[in-house]
Amino acid sequence: MTSFIQLTDTHIVSEGSLAYGRSDTATALARAVDTINSRLPVLDPVDCVVVTGDLTDHGSAEEYAHLRQLLAPLNVPLRAIPGNHDTREAMRAAFATEDWTPASGPIQWHHDFGPFAMVGLDTLVEGAPYGMLCEAGLGFLAHCLKTTPDQPVVVATHHPWIPSGMKDMDRNNLRNGPAMLDLLREHNAPVHVISGHLHRAMSALVDGILHQVAPAPCHAVHLDQRADAVNSLVLEPGQVTVYNWREDTGGLVSDLLPIGDYPGPWPFYD
Ligand SMILES: [Fe+2]
Ligand SMILES: [Fe+2]
Repeated sequence: MTSFIQLTDTHIVSEGSLAYGRSDTATALARAVDTINSRLPVLDPVDCVVVTGDLTDHGSAEEYAHLRQLLAPLNVPLRAIPGNHDTREAMRAAFATEDWTPASGPIQWHHDFGPFAMVGLDTLVEGAPYGMLCEAGLGFLAHCLKTTPDQPVVVATHHPWIPSGMKDMDRNNLRNGPAMLDLLREHNAPVHVISGHLHRAMSALVDGILHQVAPAPCHAVHLDQRADAVNSLVLEPGQVTVYNWREDTGGLVSDLLPIGDYPGPWPFYD
């Protein structure tokens, strides 16, 4: 059984600072890494951690260096795609030694897990809060799908194509989501889309394709669906998401793992 863990929206700032003056993202990430490491021995083999964007808050080299330092203790390989808070070239430089990092163009990759493949896509529009897949990104996705037409595929994007009801977030989602869906709909095998950006655990069937958004290890976006809502952060408990491929059903089963230590486990019956 193959597993992977999604970590998203780590929003690392310079050492000693808080994101938005309130969110201690460095401590949250350090605790997330501890939580992942402590769970590895009791999970089915974890192939990698996938970081789905907004790795840093401002995309500076200093923030990426801080991020790499915080991720260093992670006992499993990682791969990443950028979000709107990242800058492509600083991220590329920070991960230049990783075999998944392309030398130029969108930071996108294909990874074969065996029973399924993952296509990581770059939706960053430099300087904009919303996301778009560029022609090269759509072409890369089409190529990956065509190469393995019968293999289930997980598509990872930072920006989701999911109606959250949080107005400011929905204004800044994946603006050409329908172009991605046009390609995914044609795939012969099951497709599952995973994203970040909303800082909440949300899922929806869009055109029959499961879209799933993962929560962050640090702050959440306040779930306020009123028309006059002020987009706000809230310090809800941080989480990472474990995805486990089940041979019996031929699909991924996800589990939200709260970050931190909790009393137990105790056998139900001694
Ligand atoms: Fe974010
Ligand atoms: Fe974002």
